[in-house]
Amino acid sequence: MKIVDYDPSWPIRADRLLDNVRAAIGDWPHSEVYVFDHIGSTAVPGLVAKPIVDLQVCLPVLPRLAELATVLAPTGFMPASGARPDSPGVYRDIPRRDSAASPELYDKRLFHSPEEPAILHIRRLDSPFAKFVVLFRDWLRAHPDEARDYAVYKCGLATQHAADPDYDDYTRAKSTYFDEIDARMRRWAHSQTYCTPVAHLGAHVTGPTTLVERLPTVDEYLLLRRLVGWKCPPEDACASALVASLFGLVAQDPDGRTVGMSRLVGDGLYGLVVDVVVEPAAQGQGIGSRMVARLVEWTQQHDIPHVAVAADTSVARFYRGMFEDRGTRYLRLPTPL
Ligand SMILES: CC(C)(COP(=O)(O)OP(=O)(O)OC[C@H]1O[C@@H](n2cnc3c(N)ncnc32)[C@H](O)[C@@H]1OP(=O)(O)O)[C@@H](O)C(=O)NCCC(=O)NCCS
Repeated sequence: MKIVDYDPSWPIRADRLLDNVRAAIGDWPHSEVYVFDHIGSTAVPGLVAKPIVDLQVCLPVLPRLAELATVLAPTGFMPASGARPDSPGVYRDIPRRDSAASPELYDKRLFHSPEEPAILHIRRLDSPFAKFVVLFRDWLRAHPDEARDYAVYKCGLATQHAADPDYDDYTRAKSTYFDEIDARMRRWAHSQTYCTPVAHLGAHVTGPTTLVERLPTVDEYLLLRRLVGWKCPPEDACASALVASLFGLVAQDPDGRTVGMSRLVGDGLYGLVVDVVVEPAAQGQGIGSRMVARLVEWTQQHDIPHVAVAADTSVARFYRGMFEDRGTRYLRLPTPL
């Protein structure tokens, strides 16, 4: 295991490889929301590293390994298998300490290109680990002294594991270090209005959004749900639920891309606001409030006397003002979404 000085050609190589991967999967459905990143130590200027470029691509849903292998073959990336059946980070990432996220969010696909050498981690957009590695990279980039400490720690570990036949124990030991710095890093992120990795999607959410009075398509519905980490019901159940709605809205960015949705279900006497979702990159810009305001206005125009919202208690603050200010009855239902 060799750790070498920082090489300025690493980011150039990473960009080229990411472009190749982008070209290979760029025409898949919803490819406009894929997020491509150069991650790991080679992505932190000045940091010593194993001379292997780490790349990450996040997708709404993980494709089958065989499907990815076929499509990525021309790029030189091939499926990587672990040295041992329990090798960490091959089929699943190691959850961070105290993680409450469901285990399947940590599933991944791992590829490598021995020629380069480079490693490609394919993760879900809602993978907590995917967010973690990008946050870690950005934290190291912003804190040269922490980066130096990390370098010293890594070199010590590399010496300790120099005789190992594989990287497995080295990787596990690094995981303990990550647990230690996690709280420090998150404090920094909160104090910085740091864009979380999924917010990289925001690179293309430009200008004001428009509210369009229509229901989301099944694809839009499922994609937005995935982007905020909600469960996705079967497509046919979504299709029949959507057509049974009283009214629906989608929020579109200037490129016509759907970045939010909301709908009203009910029977004319009772109305229920459901599925209010704004993609993470577009949150905090007033889109959610505008959608709910329009739904409430619609219920008033149609004389629906009782309007409630199905929402988790964690978003009660988001709804409170909107319903009470308009004199509409606000009933918070403890529905698990
Ligand atoms: C909740 C959600 C729809 C809000 O959309 P948004 O466009 O980011 O909201 P807005 O920009 O209009 O924010 C309006 C206000 O609500 C607050 N708010 C936004 N999201 C919130 C949340 N998750 N919890 C509590 N308050 C929230 C904002 O801070 C803002 O208050 P401020 O003006 O005092 O800063 C969006 O965060 C989302 O899609 N979340 C995941 C899905 C979800 O939980 N939907 C609601 C359940 S049906």
